[in-house]
Formats: sequence, structure tokens, C-alpha cells
Amino acid sequence: MTIALEPLALRERAPLDTTRLDSLLGDVLARIDRMLPQFGEYFPAPSSQQGVYAAIDNVEWTNGFWTGLLWLAWELTGEERYRRVAETNVASFATRIERHVNVDHHDLGFLYTLSACAGHRLTGSTQARSSGLEAARLLLKRFDPIARVIQAWGDMKNPKERGRMIIDCNLNLPLLYWATRETGNKDFAAAADQHLARAADLLVRPDASTFHTYYIDTKTGAPRHGSTHQGFSDDSSWARGQAWGIYGFALGWRHTRDARYLDLASRLANHFLNRLPADGICCWDLIFTDDDQTPRDSSAAAIAASGLLELAQALPLSDELRETYEAWAIAIVTTLGEAYLAPLDGSNAVLLHGVYHMPNKAGVDEACIWGDYFYLETLMRLRHPWQPYWA
Ligand code: GLY
Repeated sequence: MTIALEPLALRERAPLDTTRLDSLLGDVLARIDRMLPQFGEYFPAPSSQQGVYAAIDNVEWTNGFWTGLLWLAWELTGEERYRRVAETNVASFATRIERHVNVDHHDLGFLYTLSACAGHRLTGSTQARSSGLEAARLLLKRFDPIARVIQAWGDMKNPKERGRMIIDCNLNLPLLYWATRETGNKDFAAAADQHLARAADLLVRPDASTFHTYYIDTKTGAPRHGSTHQGFSDDSSWARGQAWGIYGFALGWRHTRDARYLDLASRLANHFLNRLPADGICCWDLIFTDDDQTPRDSSAAAIAASGLLELAQALPLSDELRETYEAWAIAIVTTLGEAYLAPLDGSNAVLLHGVYHMPNKAGVDEACIWGDYFYLETLMRLRHPWQPYWA
């Protein structure tokens, strides 16, 4: 089904010229500078409490976003202080994979793409390459050949989690494509290809809304049912899931050149954009549209903005949606920069007003470290020709 983009409610706004963009970038760098002395050997927690991230060890699925922020800051400025801390982080990721610390889940892609793989690409570090490959091997072990998906969570024998895929995993697949490029072993990419095809078949509904998670029978490979984990209901679209889908299918096109994924990314994007409140920043679940008294998720908005730019640059120059998606990405990041930026006093985050896990009441209307990362990533894409770490 074609998903028409409704008449745009894009606010008239001043074009994002280089001066304005540099000012938004300066705001982010000032906030990273404020975080640097606090985190040192530690990492920001997944979400803040009253706008303040606690310092944690390298134990969460989110630790790579801080390292990714540091690599972006280093690429932007060339300042050695960012690289020094990023390299300390990469060494910590090497230890984490060696000691097998909280790595039995699919988020190895988030963790290692933005730390070790980015570090290997930017500095040539062989230690970074080795730990990225070790993470990819572990991720490959989560591939179930009958369900043809990477199991998201839990032990591979856990009956409750067997055969469960989730839309977020689309962003974990680039680690597998990277491992095939690095080693020549096609098993990594073959698993990613199969998972992506299952995501397209099972996670996307006919109206281009998405299930957060989906269960597949691991004895027969038969699809069972969709369900939510962080969304409002099983049949709603969790906003961040939709954003992972937009970005993840656009990346799927980058890695496979299968036009189906470009079309899917575009349909998901239209569904998402049609449900934005007036300020362009999504509510935490797309069942809520305008003027609802429910929190926004600035982190989903930031992921979607970067995903829209990934999608726009993949479309042919003649496709009019190219400019539309770019305009939306700019509208979203400028609103984030104007109305969602954390204050320098009383917070150690970049963006406020994200939602980590509404059903668990965790990180509601708080900063989320991945939101900070994708906000800077979007600004980076707008400022410089930049090769994504997911590429
Ligand atoms: N990937 C988990 C989340 O987005 O909260």
C-alpha cells in the first residue's frame, strides 16, 4: 500500500545556514565538554534522572553512544581530548567482550559499531578491529536458522525469548555487514540479509506502522504474533521503533541495494511524519498525535531525523521526496536545538524530553544518551559530507 504524505505542516523557518548550524553544533560540543571530566573511565547511564546522567561502568546496551559522540566530536574538531577518551572507551570495550560482560543480547551492534568499528575506521587500531569482530561473532551466534532472525534478548534456550525479533535490531545489522567486509566471511552478511527480510515481512503492517517485536516459531519457522515491549499497545506504533525502522531499512538498502528496503523506509517515514505534533517532535508512541498530554520522545525524533537524511541521500535526485525528507530532518533538528536542548546548569545531557521505557516508568521525560548521539549525528550529516559509522 502506498502511504501518501499528508500536506506538510512544516513550520516556516529560517533556512539552516552554516552560521546557524555551527551554533547548534557549538551547543552540543559545549555539553560534551561539560561531560568529559565527569565520565573519564565511566559512561553516562542510559537515561538521566532529573536531567542528570549518573556515571556507570561499561555494562549497558547504551555505552557505545557516548563513545560515538566522542568520535563525532573528534571528527568535527580534530581536538585530541575527544580522541583520548574515545580510545580509553574502545579499550574498555575490548575488555568487555573478552570478559563477556553483559553481551548476551543483540545490542552488540549498537555497542561495537559506534566504539570499536568507528575507532578502527578512524584510527586504524587493530585492537578495535579485533573486538569488533569478536562482537560480530557473538551476534552471529544469536541467529536462529529456522526462524531466520537474530534473537533479541535472553539465552538462546529461553523458551520465552526464542524466536523473538525486534525492530531496533535493524541498527545492529551493520556490524554483521562490516564483519563480512573485513573478513570475507559471507555468513555474517547472509544472516543480516535473512533477518532484514524477516523484519520487512513481519514487523511492518500494511499501513506502514510497525510492531515493536515479533515471535516466530523456532521449530517450524512459522510467524506467530507481534507484540510490544516499550510501546502503548501491541497494535500501536512505538515511536522509537518506527524511527529505528526508518533508519534501519534505509541502511538495509545501503547494504543490500535491494529497492524493497528503500520503499519500506519511505513508507515508514511517511507514516511517522503524518503523525507528528505541531512542533514536529513525536510523542513517545504514534497513537498519540497532537495536543495530547503525554511526553514527547526527543530521542526518537533525533533517530528519525538522521534516518530521513540517510533515506533522502539514497533516493534518486529526481525524486521530490528527497527534498521533503531533508526539510523535515532540518525542521526536527532545529526544533530540538531550540526547544529541547538541556541547560548547561543543572544537567549534564545534550537533549531533554526523551522517553526510555514508558511501561516500566523508566527515563520518562528525561535525557537519553542515544538521543544525544543521533542529534549530533544529524547535525554532522548536515554540516559535512560524512560517512556514517553504520556504513
Ligand atoms: N533499543 C532499545 C531502545 O530503543 O530503547
